[in-house]
Amino acid sequence: MRSGNIGLAAAALVSALWASPIEANKLVPGSTADLDALEPYGGKDASILRHPADWSRDVYPLQVHSHNDYWRDSPVYEALAHGVMSVESDVWLNPDDGELYVGHDPFSLSVERTFHSITLDPLKKAIDQANAANHLVSSSNKESSFFANLQKQQVTNLNKSTTQYAGYFSGGVGLAAPIQLLVDLKTEGNSTYKKVVEDLEPLRKAGYLTRYEAGKVIPGPLFIIGTGNSPAAEIAAATSRAIFLDCPLGDALTKGLDAPDGTHYEYNKTLCGIASTDFESLVPGFTGANEATDAQRQNLTAAIDAAHKLGIKTRLWDTPQWPVYARDNINKLLFSLGSDWINADDLDAIQKF
Ligand SMILES: *[C@@H]1O[C@H](CO)[C@@H](O)[C@H](O)[C@H]1NC(C)=O
Ligand SMILES: *[C@@H]1O[C@H](CO)[C@@H](O)[C@H](O)[C@H]1NC(C)=O
Ligand SMILES: *[C@@H]1O[C@H](CO)[C@@H](O)[C@H](O)[C@H]1NC(C)=O
Ligand SMILES: *[C@@H]1O[C@H](CO)[C@@H](O)[C@H](O)[C@H]1NC(C)=O
Repeated sequence: MRSGNIGLAAAALVSALWASPIEANKLVPGSTADLDALEPYGGKDASILRHPADWSRDVYPLQVHSHNDYWRDSPVYEALAHGVMSVESDVWLNPDDGELYVGHDPFSLSVERTFHSITLDPLKKAIDQANAANHLVSSSNKESSFFANLQKQQVTNLNKSTTQYAGYFSGGVGLAAPIQLLVDLKTEGNSTYKKVVEDLEPLRKAGYLTRYEAGKVIPGPLFIIGTGNSPAAEIAAATSRAIFLDCPLGDALTKGLDAPDGTHYEYNKTLCGIASTDFESLVPGFTGANEATDAQRQNLTAAIDAAHKLGIKTRLWDTPQWPVYARDNINKLLFSLGSDWINADDLDAIQKF
């Protein structure tokens, strides 16, 4: 039984990350060649690595959305090491060089912290790692070609129309639980969106992105959702895309979307990766200090159930974070009402929740 090791392995990953955040890069080497630096090949971190495709298996995946990611030294790896399945990046298009930078506001940006370096490169490395021995993805690895025949049989027995990739939180090839990335566009929607799509291109080319094509959703190990100033009408109108929309939760969800050109779009599960709203808008003034009233529960239930009826997952943001007992009361309430993604700033606390 592996389950007894879950806590230990997660704790080892987490303490390795906290002890020295830069070292986190070592946990997800860019290629199997990098493994030479790691145990059992030589380095100190690798007792937790085992097989390249296995190292995340003792981390229990959580339906948790890691918010305020830019506050962490190594946002993607710290979230993944905690089992967090959903991360977020606030992106700013700098008119001076046309690049996207990640940060809370324009005063907390730095030239090193680009969308590539902070978000996309670590995500790509994590999925590369999960597929290091997968001959369908990487033929350069000698294990993957040596075992190619066995792998082919496995994929035939699985379902070819589903993904041929292993997800980071994976039960193996074809059983991917995708990592979700919310990209919050902070600057003008049309131009920022164009650059986001351009920056996602290496991941799309690698086949890693869940995509929408000819009316169908084709799963991949990464699931990208546009929020903030994302041009909703452009996303709704696209017949082929690798990005989904953060749709409004509450009354606006059933009303649908009226585009500037007059076209009306319904919200549905092929368009909306998630539906979300701020907690305050559904239950004004509710702090979580006391039990929710029936009327408050009713407001939350109505919004959550309406989204679920459309097959869309839900998230409430800006839930009160303090006092801790009130935060936990609210998370318990939302979990019991069936809301899908629990928001978290404190990853250690949510893992123990
Ligand atoms: C394969 O997956 C698709 C999409 O999830 C599903 O519709 C189909 O029924 C599956 N086929 C088999 C043989 O499992
Ligand atoms: C963005 O594009 C849409 C349609 O393509 C257009 O209606 C809208 O005016 C554009 N917005 C800006 C700020 O350029
Ligand atoms: C989902 O909504 C989009 C936008 O309104 C629409 O183009 C698409 O056909 C809808 N899909 C289904 C299955 O209804
Ligand atoms: C329920 O939601 C409505 C807005 O839709 C709001 O006016 C009302 O105050 C909410 N009720 C409670 C108890 O929070």
